[in-house]
Amino acid sequence: MCGIVGYVGDKHKAQDVLLKGLKMLEYRGYDSCGVAMIADDEVFLERVEGRVSALEKKISGKKFNNILNGIAHTRWATHGLPSEANAHPHTDCDGDIVVVHNGIIENYIELKEGLKGHTFKSETDTEVIVHLIEENVKKLMKKDMGKRSEMLEPLFFEAFLNTLRKLKGSFAIAVIWKKAPGMILAARRFSPLVIGKGEGENFLASDVAGFIEWTKNVYFVDDNEVVFLDKNNVAFFNLDGKKINKELKTVNWDIKMAEKGGYKHFMLKEIFEQEMGFENTLMGRVLPVGKYILGNEMNLKEDDIKKFSMINFVACGTAYHAAYIGRYLFERMGMRADVDLASEFSSRSLVVDKNSLVVAISQSGETADTIDALRIAKKNGNKILAITNTLGSTITREADYVMYTHCGPEIAVASTKAFTSQLAALYVLALSFSYIRGNLLITKAREFAEELLSLAKLIKESLEINDYVEELADKFSAQDDYLFIGRGINYPVALEGALKLKEISYLHAEGYAAGEMKHGPIAIITNGMPVIVIATSSSDIDLVRGNIEETRARGGVVVAVVDKNSKQKIRADYYLEVPYASECFMPVLNIIPLQLFAYWTAVRRGTDIDKPRNLAKSVTVK
Ligand code: AGP
Repeated sequence: MCGIVGYVGDKHKAQDVLLKGLKMLEYRGYDSCGVAMIADDEVFLERVEGRVSALEKKISGKKFNNILNGIAHTRWATHGLPSEANAHPHTDCDGDIVVVHNGIIENYIELKEGLKGHTFKSETDTEVIVHLIEENVKKLMKKDMGKRSEMLEPLFFEAFLNTLRKLKGSFAIAVIWKKAPGMILAARRFSPLVIGKGEGENFLASDVAGFIEWTKNVYFVDDNEVVFLDKNNVAFFNLDGKKINKELKTVNWDIKMAEKGGYKHFMLKEIFEQEMGFENTLMGRVLPVGKYILGNEMNLKEDDIKKFSMINFVACGTAYHAAYIGRYLFERMGMRADVDLASEFSSRSLVVDKNSLVVAISQSGETADTIDALRIAKKNGNKILAITNTLGSTITREADYVMYTHCGPEIAVASTKAFTSQLAALYVLALSFSYIRGNLLITKAREFAEELLSLAKLIKESLEINDYVEELADKFSAQDDYLFIGRGINYPVALEGALKLKEISYLHAEGYAAGEMKHGPIAIITNGMPVIVIATSSSDIDLVRGNIEETRARGGVVVAVVDKNSKQKIRADYYLEVPYASECFMPVLNIIPLQLFAYWTAVRRGTDIDKPRNLAKSVTVK
């Protein structure tokens, strides 16, 4: 997830608007950034590795006259390490056309192959866009040189449309051209893009925070819409170039809220970004025909996959809970798997089979315990696969193979969208390993692929329970002790639900395997004590029903996570209903109400939700 900003007009200094906009969008990505402006008919372009403050220092003191327009970008790397060369904006061969992009161009490799003779200066997928525009401009110029040469704006627009129709994947793009100064073209598909309407000036950004200081009049761009901006006009088109009307809205956010996209906390914003994170992590890796592509970022050969004797997961905290679910997935797919807390791995490492693939999961890629465990396994002779959300992080430099989640930077200490994105990566991994090792028939692979590709929409549906959970959390305002229980693949979900609640509300919350209730935990059930039970459809539903009855018989108040089928089979005091999916996919949906429950409980308790006491986003000490 990156942040893009654009400005056209002369009422404010373009460099001030662009830098301020980038600062407001830095939470979307901050490993590198850059700005391009057309001033005095020349393209000025500056990029840095690092934060916007470094860019500001680099261009401060420079004088720009007669600036007509500008675009800028702050990056969260997905393809190509964080570096100046990979930072946006990117230009065509002559440096006249300049582009910034947020998203993933899935077919950038094949497009690049069709651009022979172009000089590429970065490892990014984005650079393909600007060379494709260059190619299309040249084609149109050649087609009828005479008429077109003085009408460069329509030609630029047509070349842009021809380019967009070739792109697969997600994008929010802004592009400027030295020969068509004073205008910006933009477009979106899956990645957010908003337009700010000013008086004698217009703005664009990844979200309202990018220009709310200058205007609160906003057009929200929808998928496959194209935008033309100059200082007095904003016009919208579909991909065929047909004009479309859009409603101008006024937002009443203040600056602080705008940075969180209108949400009160980053945590809630990130809970609601899970549909995007899950979808982007699957993008380009799962085909409906049942083909799972591990992507060339993984240089993991099929012969290697066939040779691994088993999988050993190592991780901490929320990533450990995702890894625990990964263990169930691999076992279900016919491959031996085990999971260890990274901090406990050293005592176990002596018995880990050398031919096992050790999979280290870490959102930050910097967790000391996880890196330590990875180094022990390497010394042991194991191959290492890292699943992480952070390009260029330490774990990516130490692993043999890397699989990225693509949910954008996670700002809140409590991990939410990273968790479900890690599950997306684990589904691809488990299904592709199983298929390659001959444990999964193509028919079953196709079935799983289709259901996997439908999950992002079911995440969105699950989030509709938000208002009900807000009310429910209030009913337990007098409670200080909570128990979360689940069976099988939902046991780690219970652990994760308890962790979310304890780390942001500071309440005592414990996750347990439901089958363990009679071996001790049932002794703590007191009258009115909330017991959150994951009771969605599964082969264990009858046993879960027994646990619920045991709990109710002792005065516990049961909050059950159910689907429409399982709801008929159990009795609870409150129901948190999520859509139905196959048992192995349910953790992705079951965690949603538990994340929301933790959030609203913490809101009620007035804790510092995004930065809970005693905790850090990345624990880089052992
Ligand atoms: C989860 O909400 C916590 N913030 C914490 O347990 C976290 O998951 C753990 O520290 C691991 O972080 P990582 O994924 O960056 O390695």
